Amino acid sequence: MTNTQAPLIDMENISIAFGGIRAVDGASINLYPGEVVALLGHNGAGKSTLIKILSGAYKRDSGTIKVNGEEAAISNPRDAKGYGIETIYQTLALADNVDTAANLYLGRELMTPWGTLDDVAMEHSAREVMGRLNPRFQRFKDPVKALSGGQRQSVAIARAILFNARILIMDEPTAALGPQETAQVGELIKQLKSEGIGIFLISHDIHDVFHLADRVAVMKNGQVVGTAKVGDVNEDEVLGMIILGKCPPGAIPGPGAVN
Ligand SMILES: Nc1ncnc2c1ncn2[C@@H]1O[C@H](COP(=O)(O)OP(=O)(O)OP(=O)(O)O)[C@@H](O)[C@H]1O
Ligand SMILES: [Mg+2]
Repeated sequence: MTNTQAPLIDMENISIAFGGIRAVDGASINLYPGEVVALLGHNGAGKSTLIKILSGAYKRDSGTIKVNGEEAAISNPRDAKGYGIETIYQTLALADNVDTAANLYLGRELMTPWGTLDDVAMEHSAREVMGRLNPRFQRFKDPVKALSGGQRQSVAIARAILFNARILIMDEPTAALGPQETAQVGELIKQLKSEGIGIFLISHDIHDVFHLADRVAVMKNGQVVGTAKVGDVNEDEVLGMIILGKCPPGAIPGPGAVN
């Protein structure tokens, strides 16, 4: 990660209101290649809404989104995918009864010149991409419902990578996983970082966040309290940001910081 290049994502002054509620209020957050930025905050802080604006699920009222330094026109999920922005939902959205290759190519199957499914080519590239993400994975013949939570997670991520994702949004990726599987997701994230992919991680687990993220961004009442490199703040200070909106010396204050 270096800050001499343009950020992968630069969201500036993003706002959206639902009725009278300012769900996101002047939020600015960026993300560099190979970086993991964790979004933290209480229930209702605006994390999901901000990230849904980036993924095109919601249309913002105001603010700009830049991708690689250029203003991006994102007003629906298709636009966002066109910019390489993919979301891994907590549900993973996998087709349980078919195998990994079929999941990777769901809805865009490779065909032979004779108009039949090209299972050989699909399995070949499934092995290639899974080999990169999760080298120990061997269960290519099993339906994904037979896989562990961590393995299913890697299938969902592999599918995003095949769609040319450069920016991944992960919503609570380890919430349903045990310690060993959580470690596996950590390995996956390391691999994605080494390929220059940027990740927004929504998580309630501060401990996880300190392991997985490079920076944290804390939201409260729709506003950014502050952002910080994980090395510049400790867990108590981040809790203070979340609960009190208090920005510690190691963090860069946002509009939501209290004095
Ligand atoms: N579609 C919607 N219609 C009306 N209000 C909404 C909608 N989506 C979110 N909100 C409101 O916007 C605010 C921010 O919600 P959001 O879901 O972004 O919070 P969050 O930080 O993701 O919380 P959680 O940790 O519970 O997931 C809340 O007050 C919520 O009730
Ligand atoms: Mg949410």
